Amino acid sequence: MLEIDHLTARHGPLTALEDVSLGAAAGSRIGVFGHNGAGKTTLLRCIVGAHVPAAGSIRLQGQPVAPGRVPENVRRGIAFVPQGHNVFPTLSVEQNLRISGLLFDLRFMQDVLAIFPVLRERRAQRAGSMSGGEQQMLALGMALMTQPKWLLLDEPSTGLAPVIVRDVMRKLRHVNETLGTGLIIVEQNVPATLRTVERAVILKSARVVHDGSAQSLADNSDLWRWF
Ligand SMILES: Nc1ncnc2c1ncn2[C@@H]1O[C@H](COP(=O)(O)OP(=O)(O)O)[C@@H](O)[C@H]1O
Ligand SMILES: [Mg+2]
Repeated sequence: MLEIDHLTARHGPLTALEDVSLGAAAGSRIGVFGHNGAGKTTLLRCIVGAHVPAAGSIRLQGQPVAPGRVPENVRRGIAFVPQGHNVFPTLSVEQNLRISGLLFDLRFMQDVLAIFPVLRERRAQRAGSMSGGEQQMLALGMALMTQPKWLLLDEPSTGLAPVIVRDVMRKLRHVNETLGTGLIIVEQNVPATLRTVERAVILKSARVVHDGSAQSLADNSDLWRWF
């Protein structure tokens, strides 16, 4: 269980999150939507400990997430894939996976390669020479090397062609189903994400304005006024 209670986060004088509360059962799949500047990235950064909240608390399995201590939170099972392709471009696919898993169990690479056959085929290739979609798959694989309980993704579809977005979303669903990893997906591409998640949260101007099933959002175009 991931519990976010009355979270408020600021950037200087600006309030990026105001009294946000969300509870998420282990292994659930949640989409977070909202216009630019709504606070989505700040929310993910607070969960992994990269942004220190002004007020409120975040607990993973009853234990508080350590504000400002990302490596500790990653060790406890929170993985964050920031926006863009976060790979080491001059290193090979395998070296990228190895670096991410260094403080974990490198044997898990076999599981990751089984989930992403494309990474197995290209394990000796320089990461920077792969396509955007392949680099995104590598970024997911790198995050999985830490064997997370929760995978936080900041706009994983950015810059990818629609057919590749579908592949990435399918893969995320597969990861959830085979490893039980909970997903929190921040996305602009609402239709593609609604097919993958079971719950949809909408942020507007730092506050949660909707929290319901993905289906209810898909069926209720009125709600689309929020973004
Ligand atoms: N490092 C920062 N310094 C100052 N303001 C920031 C910083 N990061 C985000 N903000 C501001 O906080 C608000 C929320 O930003 P963000 O969480 O990035 O929203 P989103 O990801 O939904 O676009 C925005 O008004 C943004 O301009
Ligand atoms: Mg953002």
